[in-house]
Parts: sequence; structure tokens; C-alpha cells
Amino acid sequence: MLLGVNIDHVATLRQARYAGELSAAVPEPDVLDAARAAMRGGADSITLHVREDRRHMQEEDALSVRREIPLPLNLEMGATGVMLQVAHRVRPDYVCLVPERRQEVTTEGGLDVAARRSELQELVAALAAQGARVSMFIDPDDVQVEASAAIGAPMVELHTGRFANTAGSDHEQELARLIAAASLAHSLGLEVHAGHGIRLFHMPEIARIPHLTELNIGHTLISRAIFVGLSQAVREMKDAVQSL
Ligand code: PXP
Repeated sequence: MLLGVNIDHVATLRQARYAGELSAAVPEPDVLDAARAAMRGGADSITLHVREDRRHMQEEDALSVRREIPLPLNLEMGATGVMLQVAHRVRPDYVCLVPERRQEVTTEGGLDVAARRSELQELVAALAAQGARVSMFIDPDDVQVEASAAIGAPMVELHTGRFANTAGSDHEQELARLIAAASLAHSLGLEVHAGHGIRLFHMPEIARIPHLTELNIGHTLISRAIFVGLSQAVREMKDAVQSL
């Protein structure tokens, strides 16, 4: 099981102080320093999301991580033609296609692949032609898993947000949905990843989801990093992920 480390919130903090004057100042915290710290902690890849509204990561961040950091780069992006151009310039190893709404705090809900088949099929093919392996960030629904396979995506990332943010029987139900979706995805030949809201204490339940090869984790690592530093935070998570 691999650990992708999402460092968006390092840029969130930087933008809170320096948005609009990035070139004039020496902004902090530095995204490249964060990527290096994550690498020292054992990150298997670096994930960043260049959002349409550029609220945290800028295209320049993606370019410099691509240039300076010798780890695979996973670019999360909205499924649009404009973002395809960004991916063309950044040349990430992986692209995770996500839905985007400006008003949302974070990526809320998965991509509706079933409703956008032909458009997404073209996008997946265009990204593959650039050399990127594409995953679809989807809710753990059969329909979305099947549509992802049908349009030729090699990977899915199952949205664990609802699993992470529910308790009791809702939580159990979400875990069951994740288990079923992972099994179906694997049977259709898809590589299966998961992400969103995952915390260290979720690991025993995550271990029950079959065929997972990668977790993408951000917020909890940056939160923990405030107290122990990012390398240590990533190291703790990596140890947990490796013991699954
Ligand atoms: N995977 C995807 C596709 C995401 O959009 C995010 C959030 O940016 C994550 C994983 C990581 O979620 P979190 O920050 O809650 O760990």
C-alpha cells in the first residue's frame, strides 16, 4: 500500500498571508520544503490540487514540485479543457480527476462519471497521450465504478469522505459500500485508491477494504505537522499504512 501525501494546505496557509504579493515577498511556508519533508517521512508520491479558483496551489507550485522533487507527482484537477492545458504544462505522472465547485470547502462528493461519459473519455485519452495515468475520484457506487472502467480509466480513487465523517450505522454502511466498490473495481481491472478525510484511527477499518493499493491523505497530516513536524507526521502515517 502506497501513501500519497497531499500538501495543498501548506499553500492554503501561504495564501492566507501572501496571496496577491507572492512575487514581492519571500512567502512562507514553502511548498517545496513541504514536499521535501514529506519525502523524508516516506511519502510515495506528492499530491496537489490546482483548483480553478487557485485558492491554494498555483500552477507555478506544480511546476516547481515537478522540477525539484524526485517523487511521482499526482495532480488533482477539475475535468475541464483549461485544466488539461495546465496538465500539459506540468506533466504529472498521475492525474486524479475531481469535481469542483467554487463554494465548496474541499472536494465534496465524487465525479459523476456516468453522466459525463463521452467528455471524460476524451479527457482520459488526452491525458494518457501526455503520459499521465488517470484516476477518477468517485463515490463508492457501482454505477460510477462501471462507468470509470467503461471510459478506459486505469484507476479509481474512492471517496472516503462520508465514511470518515459519519458514525454508527451510517458509518458501517459507508464502509460496506467502499468494500463493495473496491471489489467491483478490481474485478473490472481497475487499480483502486482511496482518499478524503482519512485519519490514523481509521486504519483498522481501511484494512477491511480489499485491493487498495494507495491512500491519498492531506488534512490530518498537515494538522499533525503543526505539533510534530511534517516528516514525523508522514512517518507515523506511513508506518500505519505499511502495516495494513
Ligand atoms: N483525494 C482527493 C481526490 C482530494 O480531493 C483530497 C482533498 O484534497 C484528498 C484525497 C485528501 O483529503 P484529506 O485532505 O481530507 O486527507
